[in-house]
Amino acid sequence: MYARAVAAITTALLGTAALLVPGSDARAGSHAAVSHARPGGVGTRPLAIGHRGASAQAPENTLAAIDRAAELGVSWVENDVQRTKDGELVVIHDDSLRRTTNVEDVFPRRSPWKVKDFTAAEIARLDAGSWFGSRFAGTRVPTLARYMRRVEHNHQKLLLEIKNPELYPGIERQILKVLGDEGWLDRRHLADRLIVQSFGADSLRTVHRLAPAVRTALLGTPSVADLPGCAGFADGINPSQRSISRKYVAAVHSVAGPHGRPLAVFAWTVDDGETARRVARYGVDGVISDKPDVVRAALRTP
Ligand code: G3P
Ligand code: CA
Repeated sequence: MYARAVAAITTALLGTAALLVPGSDARAGSHAAVSHARPGGVGTRPLAIGHRGASAQAPENTLAAIDRAAELGVSWVENDVQRTKDGELVVIHDDSLRRTTNVEDVFPRRSPWKVKDFTAAEIARLDAGSWFGSRFAGTRVPTLARYMRRVEHNHQKLLLEIKNPELYPGIERQILKVLGDEGWLDRRHLADRLIVQSFGADSLRTVHRLAPAVRTALLGTPSVADLPGCAGFADGINPSQRSISRKYVAAVHSVAGPHGRPLAVFAWTVDDGETARRVARYGVDGVISDKPDVVRAALRTP
């Protein structure tokens, strides 16, 4: 069943290969300006990115969380993408459904409730909001396609994380297919509305190989010696705020990425003004936060 789904997806993607080959719009976009980057930190302020949406105020990785971010005036949102048993892409952080849905009540015999062991139809039955607050009862785990439509509707920008890519062979191609179908691989979106990130370097290498115009960022804190290697496939390094220093941020900025721009730095997860100001002094380009409104207020940032 799964092999059939992947084959169908691959065939479909090849059908949209114009998006991914030299001379296409996406390839032309490969030289688009990395307009968010502010290496050196001179004269501009870092972006505030809503981590899993405005996840301190609404259930993470749901449409409610990105709507709340939009209400707060937050343009950039971050999410986590995984895959169901039958090959649907869904937005959820953990590899298990247990923490953020009522799966234990609905499917009590299906421990450990892994995302990859449930079909899209089964996941669509789950309540992904009540754990956070009763007023979010009935909120669903969104499919990536549905999520992309809402981000577009809200005029937002997306930091898309490929979560646990080792569990989902071929997910990179599938994600690119959805992005293409939803109109997110055109020049306008590629220029400053989309970054794909992952802790998986191999996954990002695959994204860069399949769609070199797409900006990517490697999560984690690679050594300074490893940065030139990362720059072959990543436009940015997105480290934990706990792991960085002014010197490290400067070292990242000193390396040019695959599109000829200095590597950018988005630090996570920063939920208080003092830490936001500290990483801003280091010169980071983005601050990923469950409380992007707090970060914006602290930094007077977009
Ligand atoms: O965007 C950075 C952050 O999301 C990485 O960690 O576990 O929250 O996905 P995690
Ligand atoms: Ca994430």
